[in-house]
Amino acid sequence: MAAAAKTADTDKGVAHELSKVLADSFTIYQKTHGYHWNVRGPNFRGLHLLLEEQYNEIWTSVDEIAERIRALDQFAPMGHGALGNLTSIKDGDPTLSAKEMLKDLVDGHEVTIATLKHAADVADEAGDISTNDLCTQRITAHEKHRWMLKASLEA
Ligand SMILES: [Fe+2]
Repeated sequence: MAAAAKTADTDKGVAHELSKVLADSFTIYQKTHGYHWNVRGPNFRGLHLLLEEQYNEIWTSVDEIAERIRALDQFAPMGHGALGNLTSIKDGDPTLSAKEMLKDLVDGHEVTIATLKHAADVADEAGDISTNDLCTQRITAHEKHRWMLKASLEA
């Protein structure tokens, strides 16, 4: 399919999709960091360290996503209220078991990957190769995080 010309209007549409990606990423970052603190059980150390590796990677990406929104000349949403309105990922629960925490994170990565795929499609249709590339890289990263969490769930 031939890509449309990139315009101020398409930039605005792409930035809106990226705002949803930012909100999902920020929320899963917070949840991963919270579970890093609260996870318990015989695999504590391994899970504590795995989650630290993942939240650090996601934290770096949040800045890249927000700055891409600014490069498209739109404001990046900030604050819990604004970001909370843009994501369907719920806050984590510190009382969950380690297994429930990992499953909750897997679900959060699924949501984030779906949001990213949509943003990548919208960027592609708008001829925005940079945003499409960023989204593709983020899909790869979240699929890797999801794999490591799922592998940790196997008995
Ligand atoms: Fe820590």
